[in-house]
Amino acid sequence: CVLGVDLGTSAVKVSAVTRAGTILAQQSFDYPLNQPQPGYSEQNPNDWVMSTTVAIVRLILDDQIRPEDIEGISYSGQMHGLVLLDKQYQVLRPAILWNDTRTTKQCAEIDQLLGDQFVKITGNRPLEGFTLPKLMWVKENEPEIWKQAELFLTPKDYVRYRMTGTLGIDYSDATGTTLLDLHTNQWSDVICDACGIPKRILPPLVPSGEKVGTITAQYAEFSGLSQQTVVFAGGADNACGALGAGILTPNKVLSSIGTSGVILKYEAQPNDEYQGQVQLEDHVIPNAYYSMGVTLAAGYSLSWYHRTFCEDQSFDEMIETAAQAPKGAHGLLFTPYIVGERAPYADANIRGSFIGVDARQQRADFTRAVIEGITFSFRDLLNIYRSQQSDFDTVVAIGGGAKSDFWLQLQADIFNTPVTKLANEQGPGLGAAMLAAVGLGWFPDFQACAEVFVTTQRVYQPNPLNVAKYDELYQSYQAIYPATKDVS
Ligand code: XUL
Repeated sequence: CVLGVDLGTSAVKVSAVTRAGTILAQQSFDYPLNQPQPGYSEQNPNDWVMSTTVAIVRLILDDQIRPEDIEGISYSGQMHGLVLLDKQYQVLRPAILWNDTRTTKQCAEIDQLLGDQFVKITGNRPLEGFTLPKLMWVKENEPEIWKQAELFLTPKDYVRYRMTGTLGIDYSDATGTTLLDLHTNQWSDVICDACGIPKRILPPLVPSGEKVGTITAQYAEFSGLSQQTVVFAGGADNACGALGAGILTPNKVLSSIGTSGVILKYEAQPNDEYQGQVQLEDHVIPNAYYSMGVTLAAGYSLSWYHRTFCEDQSFDEMIETAAQAPKGAHGLLFTPYIVGERAPYADANIRGSFIGVDARQQRADFTRAVIEGITFSFRDLLNIYRSQQSDFDTVVAIGGGAKSDFWLQLQADIFNTPVTKLANEQGPGLGAAMLAAVGLGWFPDFQACAEVFVTTQRVYQPNPLNVAKYDELYQSYQAIYPATKDVS
């Protein structure tokens, strides 16, 4: 088998996958997310390593996966996070994550320094979540730490380093730093020079599917893994999610609900028509790209809501009760901007709202409004593609929104597009496993691997009556951002 390590924002999930694409066993382990100040979001990189190790040890001990049967490992990781290392490759400060919005000032500086050239080079506008403004923030605010900085890594590259002793970043995560020239796939001198980033702190670049090494003796002893296990670089979680959902052609769009929410489209080349309206990144597949719009708090809005208002219900029960409330939740609308937003509104200061609170509403209406609001935010993202006359005909759902019939049908109705549910959907972890499976030569290419690993279970068709109802509600949802942006 191979192991796909899915390093998320709330937990790591490690899946053991066979040549037939069957999940043999799976273990998951959480870690805390620290918000020491409003807008800050940090994690301890050692927590990622410890949790990944616990998950692997449990696969070996509890699930009886024999270490000598694990032929390869690869990774999917939360994107953009900054892990700063000193000369001994020790972690210098907590990792600053993708949903941390402290860098508005640095983003404005990048805009001033480089203007449109930045979008041309990187395919992206400077936004708070990306790694470059985080580096500039540390340089400006923590000069003592900056002085000691020898190298930076993104999250899954750090975990891989601890397992193999090899340093590097794959191209899909490198584009997410906005320090890479998307057209040449080299670190950009123009950006480094303009923003004062010394090139020596940039990690070596490596293709996502490339073999980077094997397990070190020390980590083998620590985890029980065999030193023979071959390790492949891995990729950004959204790129791996796309691969694991078979998004290998431009006619399919991915809808993914993790902590963040993503609408993602395969691109055969870097499409500069988007002008930074959506992010543009290297795919994990060689010579391919993807674009995506990101809702900062999709699953996060629902887990915040659950934690705050529905702890007496299980997550699944909570979603069940939402399905009992009427469409439109008796006039209640929710916007999921609880940590700011990235797309279509690049606005770190906006905050979420419940609009239309009415005495006849009950808790189930609030739950439903949260789920509908998250899904409307995805429609905002799909609209960006629709306004470009993009040629997609189906949406493939993964993550939280793919776990219930209710939410899958809701997506089909709100998007007015057929929505595909995959059999045995595993999210980005399956994409990570596919990188190892193709790397080991189990399949000649990703397409052949996807034919075995990715199969459709059911397609949800939009219901015309519901589509009409949600069209109306969406008009009201769209009016909320402009009406509330100056309120908080
Ligand atoms: C993408 C992004 C998030 C993280 C979540 O740009 O910031 O989707 O990758 O892990």
